Amino acid sequence: MYQGLIHRYKNFLDLPEHTKIISLNEGNTPLIPMPRLSKELGCEIYIKFEGLNPTGSFKDRGMTAAISEAVGRGAETVICASTGNTAASAAAYAARAGLRSIVLIPEGKVAVGKLAGAIAYGAQVIQIQGSFDDALSLVVEITQKTPIALVNSINPFRIEGQKTAAFEICDDLNAAPDWLCLPVGNAGNITSYWAGFKQYQKGLPRLLGVQAVGSAPLVFGHTFEKPETIATAIRIGKPARGEQALEAASESKGKIIAVSDEEILSAQKILAGEGVWVEPASAAGVAGLIAESTKSQFEAKGKRVVVVCTGHGMKDPAIITESFQSPKIIPASYESLAEVIFSK
Ligand code: F0G
Repeated sequence: MYQGLIHRYKNFLDLPEHTKIISLNEGNTPLIPMPRLSKELGCEIYIKFEGLNPTGSFKDRGMTAAISEAVGRGAETVICASTGNTAASAAAYAARAGLRSIVLIPEGKVAVGKLAGAIAYGAQVIQIQGSFDDALSLVVEITQKTPIALVNSINPFRIEGQKTAAFEICDDLNAAPDWLCLPVGNAGNITSYWAGFKQYQKGLPRLLGVQAVGSAPLVFGHTFEKPETIATAIRIGKPARGEQALEAASESKGKIIAVSDEEILSAQKILAGEGVWVEPASAAGVAGLIAESTKSQFEAKGKRVVVVCTGHGMKDPAIITESFQSPKIIPASYESLAEVIFSK
């Protein structure tokens, strides 16, 4: 029986002796072929659908490792700053381990499915009158001054756990893909993938990291004091692992680019049109690939491409329900039903 990713990849993860495994059988997510999009763009595209992790995002990979380590060394309380997904994941794994969890989120900027998750799993949720970056500074300070354990991706064990997504892709394809496209926020995930591919020695992909244009410090080369984007998960102006992300992109002969909110929403629709509903930030990888495909030199043409979709669409239902017409209401009669279905 599958027992989670620490169990599966134990020999590849640098975790201390004291680690006590806390797992929700995360990982083992599918690589879904995208025949229509592949045909349209002229490459072989697969989605690594990380929204199918236990709390609905890729964060569970790093969190099983971070919480397992924290429990093993006797931590009683964990804390993180979050745009939402880390919060829900930390809360779930802390609950599983019997720890107290505290999550700091930017006021009013967290999608409802994430907030609901953090509350459901029993976290103490605190809204900060500021950005994710402000919240992260605060949790760093409090974990330096008190025994509370930090579970943001500055924590090296988060990176260890998140490397396993690269291992799974290599195992599924029997080699690394030619390109790996993914959204970039605080830059923990791109750092982890690159470390994972290098360690696994089944080839190296070129990396296409994608930021939202209103929150693109790694593309424009300066921090964003007031980051903005509808992709709230990656609304981050000072990525903690920004340097590592830039290094990974350049070492891989890849790049980090920015896409507009419109391009992100359009990519979300294209993915859903092929049966994969992801939250807006998660569609950034596809948006970036599409943007690249319109250039005269489309480097991924004819290549095998894995696009990481980091979080499930159910995390942010409002982005859909607020902008679409609500479904028609009809009397409960056959005639009315036939009329709406067959009328032009
Ligand atoms: N996609 C989703 C759905 C995310 O939630 C995040 C980050 C990213 C992409 C970017 O990953 O930060 O490793 O570059 N969310 C964090 C959070 C910041 O608090 O949930 P990254």
